[in-house]
Amino acid sequence: MSTALFLNLRHQLLAAIALALITTMTHAAPASVPPPGVDKLPPIPELPDPFKFNDGSRVRTKADWEKRRAEIKDLVLGYEYGHPAPPAGNVVAKELSSKDDETLHATVKQLVLTMGPDHKISTKLELTIPAGKGPFPVIVKGDLCWGKVKPEIIAEVIKRGYVLAEFDRTDIAADKADNRTTGVYAAYGDQYDWGCLCAWAWGFGRVVDYLVTQDIIDQSKIIDTGHSRGGKAALLAGGLDERVALTVPNGSGAGGAGCFRVAPPKTETLEIVITHFPFWFQPNFNQFIGHVDQLPIDQHDVRALVAPRALFTTDAHGDVWANAPGTQETYLATKEVFDFLGAGDKIGLSYRQGGHEQDAEDFAALLDFADQLFFKKTPARKFDVLPVPDAPKHFSWTAPKAEK
Ligand code: GCU
Repeated sequence: MSTALFLNLRHQLLAAIALALITTMTHAAPASVPPPGVDKLPPIPELPDPFKFNDGSRVRTKADWEKRRAEIKDLVLGYEYGHPAPPAGNVVAKELSSKDDETLHATVKQLVLTMGPDHKISTKLELTIPAGKGPFPVIVKGDLCWGKVKPEIIAEVIKRGYVLAEFDRTDIAADKADNRTTGVYAAYGDQYDWGCLCAWAWGFGRVVDYLVTQDIIDQSKIIDTGHSRGGKAALLAGGLDERVALTVPNGSGAGGAGCFRVAPPKTETLEIVITHFPFWFQPNFNQFIGHVDQLPIDQHDVRALVAPRALFTTDAHGDVWANAPGTQETYLATKEVFDFLGAGDKIGLSYRQGGHEQDAEDFAALLDFADQLFFKKTPARKFDVLPVPDAPKHFSWTAPKAEK
């Protein structure tokens, strides 16, 4: 037998075994059963086809997509982020202070949310609420650990009639390797294999649990956003929580809206992010170091969990680390899913000049996208301008023609 034929047969055999194993794994799906290891997974050099079921058949109808989405969710959690605890179901809010800000025409409230086993988990929450009766759309952001967003941004958010809800994701899970004695890890012990990004996404969900009990909040207009590692968490949170109408990761790159397979020099790769921040991910995600092509998913699959709800990414041309070519790639790949679901206008991206932050321009873009989505306002900008229009595409599949 020629070497090429042998390798081809070996490849096909490995692919068949892996698909069978993944199919078993995703149908059973208890968090404790580890999915097949990298040694059992076939290489997929291009971005994996999100429409291909684990058994090799392809999505044909919108109802099929729901089933495929469940498989993608299992793969994304099983390999990359780990599994979260179920919703705590017992979130309690304590208001610490409430002040009217007459210049801002808003009320600023400081709260503490407690939740989980024996209410052991708590997070600070700051709400800035426009004057008036509401109900208002709300922007949830977990980056209070880096300080509140700048006053000029808050002023714009309030002027546009949105509530800003800022919590501290590091209260939920400390952002360091040695984080087992606080937050969700202390409260739940070793029951779940969640890394920080998954724990933070869970935290977004608990803030939403509280917000939806408040009359001032329009439950149909919830936005999750965050910057960088906070953007990675916001993306996963929006992907998992179907109450979120619009998901807006900013500068999120590797493990966020970027791409693992398309990561040119000077951008953050899978190897780099896992080596520096192993505690952000499922503990076995490091098996893909040097084997990125064997990862059964890529970040377009994480994005696809959001569809057909809205997804908008904001980034900067100068933020090379966050990988513009890869973010463009995952945008184009995920757009196939949105188009298939008849929601092509619900995915967008925006690049500005400058570097790695979530600045006033990013918030202006977010608000423009949200105003169009929620209030049919005509935006002053386009949401489909590619950052590297001449870059080659790294996937050959396209969306199936939707059948009824
Ligand atoms: C590091 C890390 C990035 C992350 C960023 C941040 O640069 O490599 O993945 O997004 O920190 O959170 O600011």
